[in-house]
Amino acid sequence: MLKGKRILLVISGGIAAYKALELIRRLRERGASVRCAMTKSAEQFVTPLSVASLSGEKVATDLFSLTDEAEMGHIELSRDADLLVVAPATANILARMASGLADDMATTLLLATDKPILVAPAMNVRMWVHPATQRNIGILKQDGVAFVGPNDGEMACGEFGPGRMAEPLEIVAAIEEQFGRPQPKHLTLVQPAAGSRTASVAPLQQDLKGRRIIVTSGPTHEPIDPVRYIANRSSGKQGHAIAAALAARGAEVTLVTGPVNLPDPSGVTTVHVEAARDMFSACFLRLPVDAVVCAAAVADWRVAVEAPQKLKKSGDEPPSLRLAENPDILRAIATTDAKRRPALVVGFAAETEHVVAYAQKKLVAKGCDWIVANHVGEGSGTFGGDENTVHLVRRDGVEDWPRMSKADVAARLAERIAGFFSAGGKTGARVKSAGKKA
Ligand code: PMT
Repeated sequence: MLKGKRILLVISGGIAAYKALELIRRLRERGASVRCAMTKSAEQFVTPLSVASLSGEKVATDLFSLTDEAEMGHIELSRDADLLVVAPATANILARMASGLADDMATTLLLATDKPILVAPAMNVRMWVHPATQRNIGILKQDGVAFVGPNDGEMACGEFGPGRMAEPLEIVAAIEEQFGRPQPKHLTLVQPAAGSRTASVAPLQQDLKGRRIIVTSGPTHEPIDPVRYIANRSSGKQGHAIAAALAARGAEVTLVTGPVNLPDPSGVTTVHVEAARDMFSACFLRLPVDAVVCAAAVADWRVAVEAPQKLKKSGDEPPSLRLAENPDILRAIATTDAKRRPALVVGFAAETEHVVAYAQKKLVAKGCDWIVANHVGEGSGTFGGDENTVHLVRRDGVEDWPRMSKADVAARLAERIAGFFSAGGKTGARVKSAGKKA
């Protein structure tokens, strides 16, 4: 997917700058070419020589370098790329971007570009939660800048919380996703001249325009008491990628997501929920729609009675938790009255063995139209990973898809959904390729 793509990587000055070296390697492994620009503070953490050695390209550092300008001017450099990536993006560079400053090579490239921008923030947790940083992020999102991370974790400064830069492979996945997205807002103002070599990433066919689709994603958190909960390892990557892929084809997408560490996909209305019952209400409130894709790993059970105060160790037996069954969102939507039932209801099945056979049973039990069955056994890396191996199970056939990135699974599923609607959108009558291997 990244073969032949030109990435301009802007490295700003944070301890996570060392991860930019790994990012360059990962991008080049996938066939992308990477040119880099560094801020003066980034040079305190990694040297331009290391960056140049790994990227195989000269590194842009000085806005006023006569030789650099003679070889390739900064305007040309910023537009020659298919995508600009800022990793790590410090609070400082985010503030400068949000203010439209162009006071060094890095910010000038970011302001002068007519290409999409993806940023991977990295900073101390207090700086991340500061209202000024959050305000700047809001402005950048409105401008169409995409975000990946930050993740929760222990910081170099010893504090814990959100602020760690996303891992290089997570950034690679977000970059891949960018190439399947519509033009961000800040680029729609730019009219490239006819025949200009700065023409942007080709938009996908808008064959889902006018379709309303709900996607569920991520885990649910089922409270035990005010501080503890039951959850699972879903990261939301698969569900979020599906929402983005459907939006890229023009659908009006509502993403109902449990707690995840991912940025809201651009061009998608995102509703954040905690527990299964909240997810259930958020989905039902939005019916009728044309299609629903249930990719969330919804907890099957919750604690029957949530303790109003934190449970305390009493020295006796540990407390026993009585569980109650959660509503089954997929089954409820698939079996609701004809007025509200979407034309297409797609579920997922997370299986460790007999993946297709169990998914076929689930298709019948839940009353849905398609099931995307994925392997989640030990070593599959499906939960939280960047890749997935799936089978698209329909009532009259199964497609076995090869292992691919979650972004590619999402793009292919979006293509099948578009195909379903363009073939008339009728369950049972639409599948001409039943049983074919994709
Ligand atoms: O989030 P990632 O880290 O990217 O991982 C992706 C994934 C593995 C979570 C995803 O691809 C996936 O398989 N999601 C469904 C996981 C799951 O809960 O499977 P299940 O077999 O338990 O449930 C079957 C279907 O019923 C699913 O569509 C689920 O969303 C739905 N369900 C289940 C229980 C419930 N109470 N309500 C539901 O809607």
